[in-house]
Parts: sequence; C-alpha cells; structure tokens
Amino acid sequence: MTPMMEQYIEIKAANPDCLLFYRMGDFYEMFFDDADVASRALGIVLTKRGKHLGKDIPMCGVPVERADEYLHKLIALGHRVAVCEQLEDPAEARKRGAKSVVRRDVVRLVTPGTLTEDSLLDARRNNYLLAIARARASSAGEASRFALAYLDISTGEFRLTECEGSALAAVLARLDPSEIIVSDALYGDPEVAPLLRALPVTPLTRDVFDSATAERRLADYFAVATADAFGALSRLELTAAAACVSYVERTQIGKRPPLSPPQREAASATLMIDAATRANLELMRTLAGERRGSVLAAIDRTVTPAGCRLLAQRLAAPLTDPAAIARRLDAVEVFAEDALLRADVRAGLAAAPDLARALARLAVGRGGPRDLAAIREGLIAAADLARRLDARAGPPAEIAEAAAALRRPDPGLARELAAALAAELAAFKREGGFVRAGYDRDLDDTRALREESRRVIAALQAHYADDTQVRSLKIRHNNVLGYFVEVTAPQADRFMAAPLNSTFIHRQTLAGQVRFTTTELAELEARIASAADRALGLELEIFERLAARVAAIAEDIKEAGQALAAIDVAAGLATLAIERRYARPQVDGGLDFAITGGCHPVVEQTQTPFVANDCDLSPPAGGPGRIYVVTGPNMAGKSTYLRQNALIAVLAQMGSFVPAAHARIGVLDRLFSRVGAADDLARGRSTFMVEMVETAAILNQATERSLVILDEIGRGTATFDGLSIAWATIEHLHERNRCRALFATHFHELTALAARLDRLTNVTVRVKEWEGEVVFLHEVTPGAADRSYGIQVARLAGLPPAVIERARVILAEIEAQDRTSKARRLIDDLPLFAAAAAAAPPAADDALIAALAALNPDEMSPREALDALFALKAKAAKPQGA
Ligand SMILES: Nc1ncnc2c1ncn2[C@@H]1O[C@H](COP(=O)(O)OP(=O)(O)OP(=O)(O)O)[C@@H](O)[C@H]1O
Ligand SMILES: [Mg+2]
Repeated sequence: MTPMMEQYIEIKAANPDCLLFYRMGDFYEMFFDDADVASRALGIVLTKRGKHLGKDIPMCGVPVERADEYLHKLIALGHRVAVCEQLEDPAEARKRGAKSVVRRDVVRLVTPGTLTEDSLLDARRNNYLLAIARARASSAGEASRFALAYLDISTGEFRLTECEGSALAAVLARLDPSEIIVSDALYGDPEVAPLLRALPVTPLTRDVFDSATAERRLADYFAVATADAFGALSRLELTAAAACVSYVERTQIGKRPPLSPPQREAASATLMIDAATRANLELMRTLAGERRGSVLAAIDRTVTPAGCRLLAQRLAAPLTDPAAIARRLDAVEVFAEDALLRADVRAGLAAAPDLARALARLAVGRGGPRDLAAIREGLIAAADLARRLDARAGPPAEIAEAAAALRRPDPGLARELAAALAAELAAFKREGGFVRAGYDRDLDDTRALREESRRVIAALQAHYADDTQVRSLKIRHNNVLGYFVEVTAPQADRFMAAPLNSTFIHRQTLAGQVRFTTTELAELEARIASAADRALGLELEIFERLAARVAAIAEDIKEAGQALAAIDVAAGLATLAIERRYARPQVDGGLDFAITGGCHPVVEQTQTPFVANDCDLSPPAGGPGRIYVVTGPNMAGKSTYLRQNALIAVLAQMGSFVPAAHARIGVLDRLFSRVGAADDLARGRSTFMVEMVETAAILNQATERSLVILDEIGRGTATFDGLSIAWATIEHLHERNRCRALFATHFHELTALAARLDRLTNVTVRVKEWEGEVVFLHEVTPGAADRSYGIQVARLAGLPPAVIERARVILAEIEAQDRTSKARRLIDDLPLFAAAAAAAPPAADDALIAALAALNPDEMSPREALDALFALKAKAAKPQGA
C-alpha cells in the first residue's frame, strides 16, 4: 500500500459515516465505496487509481472550485461529507523525504443541519439543527417528556422547548428541521421511531446526550462559568442543548460558531398545529411540495431574505397571547396607515444584505471580502432605517425597540469597512485585491512596487524588440511558464543561434510560436511574485483585523439584523394588507369566532371575483362555541370556506391583518384540520386508516379553545360506516370537546342533528339550477343542502354521456328508497350521546379520587403517609374498574 493510501484509509476509518472529500491538489478525490456512491449520485466519471489487496481502487473527484455545487447535491440526497484538506505545502512534505505524504486532516463535516455557505442554503429559509432528549415516564399512565433544542448556525438563533410525546410530531412539523440528532437508544425506541422514520435523522452515540456532562459542555461552549447564566433550565433541556452544541463542535472540528444564548420557548405560547393540519392548510408549501401556491408565498411581501425567514417563522408558530399579538399588529398598522413611511422604509430595506449569515460565516473563518461588505452595507442600511423610523413620532413598542437595536452597532465599524474595502470584491479573500488603495501605506507601497515592475516589463519588451529588430516580439504571462518572450516560428531560428541564444533561453515550441525566457525577465518575475505575495499577506492581515472588529460587536450586529427583519415583516404585511384590503383582526381571550366578509388568502389572489363569506362560531351567551355543518354541491366551495376560516385565525394570531372585512377571534390554543383523503403508504397506512388516525388525534386533543376543521370525514369507507362515524364524531365534538368546529359533508342526513344539538348550525353553499346546469354562487347561507349535484359536476368534468345517463337512472332508483327519511327517524330512535356518555372517565379514577379525599395528611405519621402512598399506587396499577 502506498503511504498516501495508508493515510487515506486511516482518515476514512475515523469518519466512517461520511463520504470523504480527500484533497489532492486542485481536486477532492473519493476512493473505494465512496467513489462508487458519489459517482452515481453526482453523475461523474468513475476511474481507478492503484490497487488495494490486488483489486483496482475505484476513484472519482470534483474540482475544488466547484466543490460547493457537488456538496449541495450530496447533502440534498442525505449524505454527509467529511472535507479533508492538505495542512501543509507539498514542498514541505518533500523536504522530509521523497516518500513522505502531505499532512492532511478533516477540517469540517458537512451535514444538512450545520451549513453556513450561501451556495448551500436557501436564503429564505431557516436551516435548523434539532436535538431531541427524552425523560421516560416514571410510572405507567404518565407521559414521557421531551426537550427539543434547535439552532441555526447560519444565523446564530438557538432555542429550547419542552413538550409531551403527543405534541412531539406537531413541534417537529412546526420547526421543519434540516437535521435531527437523537441518541442511538432513542432512535430505535418504539415511542419515537415511527415519528422519525420520514425525517432527516442522525443517530449519535450516547455521550452526546449524557446528562451528567451536559451543563459543563454547554457552559464551555459559551465560555461562561455555569449554565445558570441561561436561566433555570431543566436537566432535560440542558441535555438537548448540550447535544446541539457538542454536535456543532464535532462538525466544525473545534470551531465555535457564535450562538445566541439558548432562549426558552413555552409550548403554550404558540398555537399548536399538527403536521397533517400544516400540510392540509398548505402553510409553507403546497401538498405537491411547492412554495408557489402556499400561504407563505401568498402573504410574502418582504424584501430581504432575513425578513422572509422571520415571516416563515411567524407563520409556522402563531402566538396565543393576545397582548403579544396586538404588539405585532400595532406595528403593521403603523405601516398600513402611513404609505410614505412604508415606501420609504421598504426602499431602505431593499438595500440591506443578509447580516446574520455574513456574520456567521466570518465567525467560523469561512467569510470572504463580500461578507465584510455585507456587514458594511447592512450597518449603513440599519442606521439609515433607524433615521427613517425616527421621523415617526411615538411609534408602538415593536418599532421603537427595533429602531433602538438598529442604532446600537458602533458606527465606527461601518466607516472603517467603507474606508478599507475596494469597490469591486472577489469572492474569496485568497484572490486579494479587496483592500482599497490609500487605506494602508505598506500595502500601497508593495502594490506600487508590483506596478513598477510591470512597467519595467513593458519597457523590456520594447527594448528586446529594438535589439532583435523583431517588431512582433511580445512578453506574455501564463500560469505554467510565468513571464516569457514570444516570437513567431519563422523568427525563432535566429533566437536559437548565436548571438541571440546567449540572451534568450528556449522554453517551449508551439505550432505558430516559440517561447523564450531571459535572466532579466526571471529576476523581474521573482520580484513581482514576491511583491504580490507580500501584498496578499498584508491584505489577509487586514482582513483578519476587520473580521475581529466585526466579531467584537457580533451581538449588536445580530440584533440589528433581527430588527431589520422585524421591520421588513411588519412593512411587508402592511403592504399586503393595503394591496389585498385586509383588516386588522380583533384578538382576545374569549371564545368568539366572528368573521364577516372572509376570503381565502391564496384562492382570492387567483380566483376573481372571489365571493366573500361570513362565519360566526361565537358561543351563544357564555357557553362553548358553535359548530357549523356545511353542506352543498360538489365544487360549491365548501373546502375553500373551511380552510379560509382556519387561515384567517392563523394569520390573525401570527400578527397579520386578515382577508376579511371584520374578524373577532378568541385565541385558539390548537388548530386541527382534516381535509380530504390522503394516502400515507410510506408509513404503512391506508387512506381510511390515515383519516381515522387523524380524527382520533383531534377527538382526543381538541379543547374548548381549539378550532377543528373536518372536511368530509368518513368518505373513505362504506356509506353507512362513514355516516355513522361522522355522526358520532359531531356528537363528540359538541358534547365533549366543546370546541368551535366546521364540518363539511355530503352526508345530508347529518343536517338533522341540528334539531338535537343546540350549538349546531347548518349552513350551505348556494348554487342555482339553470336549464339543467348548475351555476356556482359560492355563497354560504344558513340552511341545508339536499343534494350534491355530483352527476352534473361529473358531466362538467367530461365523463362519457353514457356513464352520466346510467348514473342518473341509478340515482333515481336509490333515491326512491329514501335513505334520508330513514336517517331522520334514526335521530329520534338513537339514545342521544350514548357515545359521549361511554367516554366518561373510568371508575378507577373515581375510586382513586375518593381514596385521596379520605386522607388527612395533617394527622398522619410519616409511616402512615408512606403506607397510604403505596396503597394509592396499588389502586392505580389495578386494571380499570377494579
Ligand atoms: N368563495 C369563492 N369565490 C369564488 N370561487 C370560489 C369560492 N370558493 C371556491 N371557489 C372555487 O370553487 C372551486 C371548488 O371549491 P371547493 O374545492 O372548495 O369545493 P367543494 O365544495 O369542497 O367541492 P367538493 O364537494 O367536490 O369537495 C375552487 O377551486 C375555487 O376555484
Ligand atoms: Mg371539498
């Protein structure tokens, strides 16, 4: 084995779960299995190099300057890449002997959750790394608890939240992390394994999740004495947070990208929306997975990437505190009311680059001159924006705070950067030329020397041309030969013979030209090269100095970046509100849900005219809210109506104006939506199973504060099975969940329930029949539909006339049997709410409560108290009803 292969195998063995990018000159090479995998994934040629154990070693490579492009593809395909660099000049290695290999080591692991490069990131999305830690239930019947820590190293955000197992999927859906880390043990655990199956998970050894060392690891990362600095974090939160930072250190090989101290998020502070609901409502992307057509795309009027990321965060996590919501709405209102200020601020914002990401790259040593320029532009934009905001007297809290943050960074830094940076900047600092002339004396002198030498070369060319009488003689430069004298082939013979050959030394013969060098030229070249080296060295020193100045006020810069984003979001939402005539919603702690003139934020932008509709689920006099049963023909607009009301609530709680004339909403704690039928074959569930699993989640979790949207529940099975399930579901929502709900259905029998359930209201979407055709009015009015016009819609869709005709005949037959009246009779015969009653708490609970009530702790000895505790525990352990 060659020494190089030996080195390769050793480094590869230390990084078995990564593809190894092994630096050789201008290429990253991959060998063995890595080469097979990468050549297939990237569509690059597989070659071979040498032999190992008698077999050819497969090899493929990517050029260093295009590495990002290939990394991007590999990461998107779920690979992890270890980047192994040459740590010394090959010349150094040769000094140690002919056989010695260049020292190399891995400088970074590239994983989906730990990216900083613009070329690898979507500017409009956060890129979260998320760690999950679990505290297992200590007794049966108790739920296990989870702590989630998540961070974006490209922006420095770092947050913590806790939740129960039942909410885990919803939280993961909200954060949509690019990479999830869990311990090996948790990865294989039946409680979480099904949840994680379709997600980008990296299982890690248990030391990363070791709770005993968690606090120290976290404190070390932030270079603070104890983690108490971050407030009282639970052991579980510490474990998750420490796992995150340990993984960052591991992938960045010891570097510590600056993170904000972990911020705690109370689970109850955000509206809970589970994964199915998010998908159904197409919040971030459509069901087809596209951003276009999503709610986010429809409401996004931001002009900066950071603003867009913040908008996405807010849409993903609407608030539940009316005061916090009002704060955001106040800011939107200011911009909505003041068109001049709005235009002014947005013009200022458009010039602002991505401060957070430039900052993060500089901090890990991956920044370039353009990142420094971004900081300069960002700081100038921030100061400028602060001035524009000052023009407005008495701004609301959100704007005042943002303006203060915008003014905080030291203005000296922007001035310094402006003085230092040249007008045109290369992408990489090693290319040099980014320091402005006149900024640094030494650098200017060195550059002058270089320029001077260039002039000398020009003079030399004229001199040689004169001496040899060859007018076409040129002095040229390339990377292989350096400087050389070039003459045409017919002239060349004279240069190879005496006397010229004493001056001109032959270097290369091409088809038409011959190239020579001279001692003078070589000396000049050495001078130029050393001046260039020195100039570059000086520039790099200046770069590091400037980067250090940036790092010194990183926290201020980050906050200014966040303030820019917050202003961008508020001004963007105001622009949307004006453009689409949105109204400020009234959000309070009650249980009302009263929308007048509501529209669907996405559909109304494409469907004109869009018919606005009202919805009032407010409780009649103090009790719980109402349920609407929505009936109406196919294509009438039921699903649109359901979704628009859910979306109006989401928009209101994220702090946006809403597509309605008026909206009064008592905050929702959870939003559930089950729309249409969707397969989830990947997770081994059929259409109907998915429908029922999701309905079960709703019935088990919805509270009086929740809003539930159910669209055609029970459609995936036989008619009577479906009808029965839908029926029982409505009863349960009305009697036990007591939530506000919208229920769309083609089971017209269900409208009969309104006679028995007092908070149930029937509404229908109107159509007109005109010469045998249906005309869709899209108007929601009180009342019930008695038919679905399915056959008319089928005809519109182009079913063959024979099929349509036959269907009409069959329908007439079935209607003659009069299913409807049977169901009407049913409602009188069925013992009402039998289902709801059966779901009453099990008797065992009552027995426990009675036993507890009988205890009098004041009169018990410690011994008696302990006995009582065991007795209670034994009772709880017995099967229900015992
Ligand atoms: N309020 C409205 N104003 C204008 N057009 C509307 C409105 N609501 C819905 N539409 C249009 O009607 C189409 C059908 O709407 P939707 O899917 O909501 O009908 P549906 O009643 O749920 O039908 P189905 O019973 O077949 O599921 C939509 O794609 C949209 O283009
Ligand atoms: Mg529908």
